[in-house]
Amino acid sequence: MTEIRDLLVETRSFPPPPAFAAQAHINDRRLHDAADADFIQYWAEQAATLRWTKPWDRVLDWQPPHAQWFLGGQLNVSANCLDRHLDGARRNKAAIVWEGEPGDRRTLTYWELAREVRTFANVLKGLGVQKGDRVGIYLPLVPEAAIAMLACARIGAIHSVVFGGFSPESLRDRMNDAQAKVVITADGGYRRGQIVPLKRNTDKALEECPTVKHVVVVQRRTSGPITEAHVDMKEGRDHWYHRLMQHANDQCAPEPMDAEDVLFILYTSGTTGKPKGIVHTTGGYLTGAASSTKMVFDLKEEDVFWCTADVGWITGHTYLVYGPLANGATCVMYEGAPDWPERDRFWSIIARHGVTVFYTAPTAIRAFMKWGVEHPRRHDLSTLRLLGSVGEPINPEAWMWYQEHIGGNRCPVVDTWWQTETGSIVISPLPGLTATKPGSATQPLPGYSAKLMDAQANELTSGGGLLVLTKPWPSMLRTIWGDDARYVETYFSKWAGRPDLYFAGDGAKLDADGFFWLLGRVDDVLNVAGHRIGTMEVESALVEHPAVAEAAVVGKAHELKGQAVCAFVTLRDGFHKSSELRDDLREFVAKKIGALARPDDVLFSADLPKTRSGKIMRRLLRDIAEGRALGDTTTLADPNVVAALKEQYEKDE
Ligand code: WT7
Repeated sequence: MTEIRDLLVETRSFPPPPAFAAQAHINDRRLHDAADADFIQYWAEQAATLRWTKPWDRVLDWQPPHAQWFLGGQLNVSANCLDRHLDGARRNKAAIVWEGEPGDRRTLTYWELAREVRTFANVLKGLGVQKGDRVGIYLPLVPEAAIAMLACARIGAIHSVVFGGFSPESLRDRMNDAQAKVVITADGGYRRGQIVPLKRNTDKALEECPTVKHVVVVQRRTSGPITEAHVDMKEGRDHWYHRLMQHANDQCAPEPMDAEDVLFILYTSGTTGKPKGIVHTTGGYLTGAASSTKMVFDLKEEDVFWCTADVGWITGHTYLVYGPLANGATCVMYEGAPDWPERDRFWSIIARHGVTVFYTAPTAIRAFMKWGVEHPRRHDLSTLRLLGSVGEPINPEAWMWYQEHIGGNRCPVVDTWWQTETGSIVISPLPGLTATKPGSATQPLPGYSAKLMDAQANELTSGGGLLVLTKPWPSMLRTIWGDDARYVETYFSKWAGRPDLYFAGDGAKLDADGFFWLLGRVDDVLNVAGHRIGTMEVESALVEHPAVAEAAVVGKAHELKGQAVCAFVTLRDGFHKSSELRDDLREFVAKKIGALARPDDVLFSADLPKTRSGKIMRRLLRDIAEGRALGDTTTLADPNVVAALKEQYEKDE
């Protein structure tokens, strides 16, 4: 578990501002009471807010650990996110307000977005994509990312979005695991003024992806010509998006989908080297996404909602695309970095578009704190009425800073806990109801049951333990793509004989008010700037380097990123430690996995600390990396190894 600070000394509490509570969708406990009385009925009522083309026969079939929701029901996600809004005044409302990093802008109304989606759905059909086929999406954060996702949903194809920061090898592995038929990419994208060569990466990945037959390339046009420098079109396989769109029909009826048909696969890191393809289905996922967006963000017709996540992550799926669009909201989408061209970019975006609800990550908030209040102060942030945080525990100082300097002490702050696997928010304040405490995600939303347990499945009512979800929920993952045994093993086997208990992988504390304080992962998964990275993934990458014999990776507390990757390596004979080799190894990992996994530190060691049975003692490595006094070393095979390592680490620092 990451370091456990004594969070329970935090006593500040902020009830919802009366003016906010008065207008909020939820400002009393009626929904909680209804859900507590009958959670199945509660979820049926939430699902009923969607447009179904065939009603379900059964709300829930729970054969632990497998759940099916809204069985027999049919609906289409794109029809719910688009067609539903085209009959009345919403047809001319902005659905997506987009800014590219270089400053280019586009706004798509619901009418325009729906038309693009239908046309692209026909493009996909024209490339032979059928219901149930997998389509990879490897794009910068441009409107076409949402268009591609919704077009897949329209025809019943399963999308698998891969974050544009991932390497060709990471893309290759995901496309092969999903057996994708088509990949949608772009000539490039912008990040901190640089061009990310997505098409070139795709070409490299596809050298070893036999199932991929077609590539659609979005032209990310701005002042500079990305095209010539970065793109090489392969005859017969590669097609320009804009050319295909010119020739496609703009009418495409939504495919009626069973509630349990797969909507998407999204890969995330686990405790082994191989990422897991998290499977989400149609009816349950959209129910969770739509209802939580409305409740947690108190979404109203006039809101301008900005979730800063990339569509490559679950947050982007649920709160940039599906949740807001299902609610007919206006969403802001921004392609680039928060400090480009200046450190006030986010605040200028909020002012330019009149953002009312803003949802970002603690790692970003900590960076803003460090950059100084002069940046937000230069802009009119008075349209903001609600702030959200997601991705990792938020430290109380960052929470307070966010509330004061961004929210002007007038906006509630919702710290939302959830995971790729949960599909939508599980633990969070309701901004018109919950008295928040800085650093606590507070309590489960209506319809969820979160508990704290010890290793023997005893429920704990105070202190620290493991976070468990004890009831199924509509937007829960259904399985791991192609590996149901791993699904059962990872999430539902922590407590013998209790396949009904979902093990989240997080440690938490409960305070006297029954509020949850999330403490971080209890497994070998790191959270670096809100992104999940498996220590094993980085280790597997390192040992592929010719110089490396053995590698152990741990997380090290980091001021801005929450955790940083710290690698300990032993070298093969004939290789010697040097700062060049250190840089080379850091780049090697960035190239293999993606820049997000690049180790901050690489420490060369003659040996790694192991137990007598040969297991690497990461706990001790963490102590060394974080400069702490060494914990218990009595189970070590050779205690000298750590002493030497520690001495060396201190010297190298
Ligand atoms: C892990 C899930 C779905 C959100 C984006 C990350 C950590 C997430 C919080 C929070 C403390 C949080 C947990 C969780 N996490 N939100 N509000 N407070 N920790 O999704 O990549 O699937 O990671 O992120 O450790 O298990 P993810």
